[in-house]
Amino acid sequence: MQLILLGPPGAGKGTQAARIGAEFKIPPISTGDIFREAIKKKTPLGEQAERYMKAGELVPDELVLGIVKERLAAPDTAQGFLLDGFPRTLPQAVAFDRYLAEKGQALTAVINIEVDPEILVERLSGRRICRDCGAVYHVVTKKERQPGVCDLCQGQLIQREDDAEATVRNRLTVYAQQTAPLIKYYREAGLLLTVDGAQPIDDVYQAIVTGVRQRV
Ligand code: AP5
Ligand code: ZN
Repeated sequence: MQLILLGPPGAGKGTQAARIGAEFKIPPISTGDIFREAIKKKTPLGEQAERYMKAGELVPDELVLGIVKERLAAPDTAQGFLLDGFPRTLPQAVAFDRYLAEKGQALTAVINIEVDPEILVERLSGRRICRDCGAVYHVVTKKERQPGVCDLCQGQLIQREDDAEATVRNRLTVYAQQTAPLIKYYREAGLLLTVDGAQPIDDVYQAIVTGVRQRV
């Protein structure tokens, strides 16, 4: 099964990715997480990506395509994958279609999580993530059990640097200009599965699982 999670910053892609991946037994792959890990480890990839991410801009297509292809070559993708945050531009989508065709694969569905922009700013400013495992929390809607400590791994909860309000607004503009055109692209390909992301987390999850099951 080959799935893509599409949606603006804060739509809930990361929140849904782990569960959806476990449900369909495919690895969730977040390009944002790969870059954040590279920045933390100060690798050459991290050094290249950091300035774009800090500003809320997109990392250049060539760099992103390279890391996605490398990640998809790993053995855990034998049964498929769930991509979170890729593709994010039309050139990325076109290049990815070509890559899949060369491998004799096709996408199963593109899950489009829809949420109003006003809600997104609120979600991102209240978001906290685990420094160690990346688990996602929210100060109001998804609180940790022990203040400041991850429920899953006891890691410290921190705020993402690009969740500062001015950066969030830029990310939303970048999404509208460069990523939103993918909705039409995948709708025309007959792959789009749109889900209302303003519902409670469990309802969004159910809507995704039901929608995907209807397509396989
Ligand atoms: P990335 O890490 O992909 O960030 P993003 O797309 O901006 O998405 P977010 O992680 O901010 O949001 P999300 O949809 O995962 O929401 P979440 O589940 O956390 O990318 C970061 C950067 O990396 C980019 O800006 C770019 O620089 C670079 N990059 C990455 N991929 C790239 C690519 N392909 N090309 C170029 N550059 C790339 O939820 C948000 C909050 O809301 C949480 O607090 C959560 O608890 C809460 N929440 C979630 N669902 C609900 C709900 N249903 N109800 C109430 N609260 C909810
Ligand atoms: Zn953790």
